[in-house]
Amino acid sequence: MRQTIRFIRKGHMVELDQMAPTTMLLDYLREVERATGTKEGCGEGDCGACTVAVGRLKDGKLAYEPVNACIHMLGQVDGCEIVTVEDIAEDDGKLHPIQAAMVQSHASQCGFCTPGFVMSLFTLYQSTDGKLRRDEVNDWIAGNLCRCTGYRPIVDAAVAASAGTRNDRFRVAARDTAGLLSFLADNDDVFIGDSDRFFAAPATVDGLADLYEQHPNATIVGGATDVGLWVNKQLRDLPKIIHTGRARGLDQVQDTGYELIIGGAATYATVEPFLAALDPDIGELLRRLGSRQVRSRGTVGGNVANGSPIGDTPPLLIALGASVELRKGKRVRTLPVEEFYIEYGKQAREPGELLTAILVPKLDETHIFRCFKVAKRFDQDISSVMGAFRFTVGEGGIITEARIAFGGMAGIPKRAAGAEAALQGAALRDSRAWARAFAALRDDFQPLDDHRASARYRVETAHALLGKALIEAAGTSTSRTRIVGRREKVADGSR
Ligand SMILES: Cc1cc2nc3c(=O)[nH]c(=O)nc-3n(C[C@H](O)[C@H](O)[C@H](O)COP(=O)(O)OP(=O)(O)OC[C@H]3O[C@@H](n4cnc5c(N)ncnc54)[C@H](O)[C@@H]3O)c2cc1C
Ligand code: FES
Ligand code: FES
Repeated sequence: MRQTIRFIRKGHMVELDQMAPTTMLLDYLREVERATGTKEGCGEGDCGACTVAVGRLKDGKLAYEPVNACIHMLGQVDGCEIVTVEDIAEDDGKLHPIQAAMVQSHASQCGFCTPGFVMSLFTLYQSTDGKLRRDEVNDWIAGNLCRCTGYRPIVDAAVAASAGTRNDRFRVAARDTAGLLSFLADNDDVFIGDSDRFFAAPATVDGLADLYEQHPNATIVGGATDVGLWVNKQLRDLPKIIHTGRARGLDQVQDTGYELIIGGAATYATVEPFLAALDPDIGELLRRLGSRQVRSRGTVGGNVANGSPIGDTPPLLIALGASVELRKGKRVRTLPVEEFYIEYGKQAREPGELLTAILVPKLDETHIFRCFKVAKRFDQDISSVMGAFRFTVGEGGIITEARIAFGGMAGIPKRAAGAEAALQGAALRDSRAWARAFAALRDDFQPLDDHRASARYRVETAHALLGKALIEAAGTSTSRTRIVGRREKVADGSR
């Protein structure tokens, strides 16, 4: 067991043996290192002012991801490199190409948001080769807010900086940094504190399951993109933290050919290519889930386990017929995702029971799939209503199974049982069956009425989404009103 956390700063290893379990990376940077270039805006992952780059090994290669330091626990960076806005200029003070382009493009006014933009763009610069497209940049900075400058000059800066060869000192040092990171990647369980108050990050799934069984009142932390807000906004004292991110293999996705096995600690960034390959709608949903920073660290496991009625992946997974794998000590069980949700705030997860995997059957040629997220803002906004639809279509265009799930329509993510029954056995283009399904949908849910959306709005929206899914599935309209085609639309460079 290792009673320290270790990470790389400015080419050197930092080792800490004392920290409060929920110390955030931002507080460490600003208060301990006095690296105050990284700003605190919202403290809840929304504004991006606190963005730093976290380097880690992915398939043996160094990769930098943007992370919201305000909701990132310090213990989560064990084994990583942290790069802040103070670190990226050359030793002689020459600005990094991203910084220089921001100056050239007049891309900063008050400057408060600027360090966050610079660091987001730094990670984009490191993650790509060749000239960037404006829509790529727009997607990447969806989690950075600026209220003064406007985004056009910021996007100009990113595009300009990408025009030349990428040979900044981070690229030059990539091999050495990867060497340092592989030195840090040991097989020790991390445990800092005592049995009443600790931050722990076991190195194996067995270790994780054992520790959680011993401390069922501990808080499991995946990416902390939900838990971070409990600390910062609800001021909750969480004395025992067990982080899943070091458990070997738990952050991976396996494709068995007929199903995806998503590890309980797999981030959106890892899962995205696998799920998006099932259907373009899923890719579009994930592109709009949180921001690049949130998707870098947030996990699908955390989204499912959190049990929010407006989480985006639970309705998706329910419509896809997915199951969760749960483990307590050595006992492992699986259950369909829809059975995981009992009522608002209550899931079928026992104290000390981990979510170790999500098993997602792949779509085949009998399936027609659609999912739509409706939120107040296009980017980085939680859904008001999220609908996911999988129709299995047999001979003669008959719907042999309809799986329809909604988020935002009840205290839990839930199937529309009446609408499903109305469509089962009907022809895909049978408009009378559609009418029965629309009527049944109104009885399927008594939605929430809150600041995000009124109950009436939610009912009308769900109705419209079901109609849209049926129209598209039946092929009675070829127009696709969602923004999947945005790439073509922005070919002229407009946002
Ligand atoms: C700015 C911002 C935007 C967001 N936008 C969206 C959005 O568009 N759509 C959306 O759905 N969500 C959104 N979220 C919410 C959040 O990002 C997701 O719910 C995310 O998937 C949580 O994953 P995590 O790993 O960060 O979870 P954590 O915060 O680490 O944990 C969340 C919960 O799950 C539990 N948990 C985590 N992993 C496990 C496990 N393996 N076993 C058992 N329990 C576990 C934790 O104990 C906790 O109760 C947003 C959050 C932020 C800050
Ligand atoms: S301070 Fe706003 S995202 Fe961190
Ligand atoms: S320059 Fe002021 S908020 Fe961006």
